[in-house]
Amino acid sequence: MLDLPAIVADVRRGMIPAHVYNDPEIFALERDRLFARAWVFVAHESEIPAPGDYVVRRVLADSFIAVRDEAGTVRVMFNMCLHKGMQVCRAEMGNASHFRCPYHAWTYRNDGRLAGVPFHGEAYGGEDGLARTGQSLLPAPSTDTYNGLIFISLDADAPPLRRWLGDFSFYLDLYTRQTPAGLELRGPQRWRASTSPDYATPTPWRRSAPAACAWWRSPGAAARPLPAPRRSPRAWRSRRPVRAWSGCDTG
Ligand code: FES
Repeated sequence: MLDLPAIVADVRRGMIPAHVYNDPEIFALERDRLFARAWVFVAHESEIPAPGDYVVRRVLADSFIAVRDEAGTVRVMFNMCLHKGMQVCRAEMGNASHFRCPYHAWTYRNDGRLAGVPFHGEAYGGEDGLARTGQSLLPAPSTDTYNGLIFISLDADAPPLRRWLGDFSFYLDLYTRQTPAGLELRGPQRWRASTSPDYATPTPWRRSAPAACAWWRSPGAAARPLPAPRRSPRAWRSRRPVRAWSGCDTG
């Protein structure tokens, strides 16, 4: 049983109990009280400079597509098919005019609009049975940007991003406005951290990021880069819409 008052008292004495780093109860509390409400950075606009560019990012258990649509608008949408919830985008980054669900091949434009449903007439009774018009991948509950940094919140009633950032925006300005050209993000940078030199000992998730950031000055921690993100070669090369199926209007 978690003894939060005792943990808080320890922290106030400058002592952080080691178990907080991988305590599932604390993680559950953070999930509900912090990450489910906070604004979370998911991508930078420079990662998706051209129409169709996208990256896929996770917040808690949900996968999101951050994409620049054909009109140049940056959107963040749940990576979840409207049909049965399958992830419609399986690559981590790329460029695509459409996302096609691998399960039953429902197809969405890169602005999220449903474009094609195979066997729409035969299986669903056409527009009378399943209206495609107005259907769209679900947007993140709240989305906003600051200096090109794209944030989302899982709380639809989240306070405005600028108010939430408060004085911390000073530090973001410091890092993101160092030159008139602004910031360009090359990434993502991914690291595997371990407390053992042979990477055999798992590292609690809270220690991984600091260890990766500070590996050069932490003799007890080791970090090494992971393989490059997985791109979808077909989606990366193709700027053409996915082939239309019978009864759908993929353009
Ligand atoms: S779950 Fe996506 S098409 Fe069926």
